[in-house]
Amino acid sequence: MNLWIKNGHLLDPANHRDEICDIYVKDGKVAMTGSLLSDSGPEESDEDVTIIDAAGKYVMPGFLDLHVHLREPGFTYKETIKTGTAAAARGGFTGVCPMPNTKPATDSPEMIRQILAIAERDSDIHVYPVGAVTKGQTGQELTDIAGMVKAGAKAISEDGKSVMDSGLYREAMKEAARAGIPVLAHCEDIHMAGKGAMNAGKKAEELGIPGISNAVEDVIAARDILLAKETGVRLHLCHCSTKDSVSMVRLAKEEGLPVSGEVCPHHFSMTDEDIPADDANYKMNPPLRSSTDVEELRRGLSEGVMEAISTDHAPHGEEEKKKSIAEAPFGIVGSETAYALAVTHLVKKGYLTPMQLVEHMSTNPCRILGVPGGSLAVGMPADITIADMDSEYVIDKNTFVSKGKNTPFHGAKVQGRVFYTIVGGKIVYEYKEETAND
Ligand code: DOR
Ligand code: ZN
Ligand code: ZN
Repeated sequence: MNLWIKNGHLLDPANHRDEICDIYVKDGKVAMTGSLLSDSGPEESDEDVTIIDAAGKYVMPGFLDLHVHLREPGFTYKETIKTGTAAAARGGFTGVCPMPNTKPATDSPEMIRQILAIAERDSDIHVYPVGAVTKGQTGQELTDIAGMVKAGAKAISEDGKSVMDSGLYREAMKEAARAGIPVLAHCEDIHMAGKGAMNAGKKAEELGIPGISNAVEDVIAARDILLAKETGVRLHLCHCSTKDSVSMVRLAKEEGLPVSGEVCPHHFSMTDEDIPADDANYKMNPPLRSSTDVEELRRGLSEGVMEAISTDHAPHGEEEKKKSIAEAPFGIVGSETAYALAVTHLVKKGYLTPMQLVEHMSTNPCRILGVPGGSLAVGMPADITIADMDSEYVIDKNTFVSKGKNTPFHGAKVQGRVFYTIVGGKIVYEYKEETAND
């Protein structure tokens, strides 16, 4: 099947394209882009062509989410590779990186192969598995990093926690550097975090909930940057939530180190003051921070110091999230709300241009992970997201295709809707008004 995407607004930062034009997709690849296509059609004789009217919409290289939890194997009541990738497709993502805190942990070449096999069967989008740093994520013994990379892992991470043994982590970084993959770092000093369940501050005191201070993240972010400097590994800091994380990434870049950072939509959209009550849908790790932190995260994204928007999509069961903030597990879903939150809180508020949004959701994530995509040049795989930045609607968790409904954004008014997600020239998600509840 070939596609003729007509009259869309192409946003392709990798090729400096910002114009209304047509895109012709043939055999899964971008075959032609340009304004002349509209008059005659690329191949009038081509009967097997599907026409997409993209007038009034942006046509962008497909988004890549560097940070999701798909929960398979082990926690399939929360999510599966099938439902999690369908949710990602609905959010405009053509690729995702599932983190290794599955059960068993994704900590061996066999586990990487198993995830890729399930993805091959159940997913319409690209799945780039992330291998664990230590066996069983227990922080004791390194995994077979080279073997996992050979099996298809695109990065390593201990996400869900940090590797607290700096010596062991340094060895892992050396291995990752040798294998040519990045380390995706969850920064949290477990000894300082204690029983903390939300940002340390006035709100935590008001609610009587133990706090997590900024230093819990910052000391490990600093350590990891220093270890990256010593080992030469490419280091990507996950879910940066503090102003000093931004400063440290800025400094590292000024020194020329291969360090990057991601920010999640919840961290740039809300502060801890927005937590209305003891509601675990507002509980995630790292937690919602102060307005000073949020402002710095936005500025970091705006200046390109922070290079990626990722979701940390973390589905949980309804019963689990009915518990109090102190007792419920950390994490919220994010795949189906990320784009609209980025449009609403970053583009519409003047922090990002539409082009920068594409850089943060597509071009930069693909470069950081070292995978194809992030460009719609002729010959590139036709991984495409078509969306607008004007549709206004209210987020309704009951429309989510993710099994997880744990979001603090239910009922939030946003702008920006995904209309099509296309992978290798195949439409894997299409917005249908008549079936939508919003
Ligand atoms: O909020 C979070 N949820 N943070 C993490 O680091 C782990 C994740 C999960 O797996 O639920
Ligand atoms: Zn994490
Ligand atoms: Zn995570």
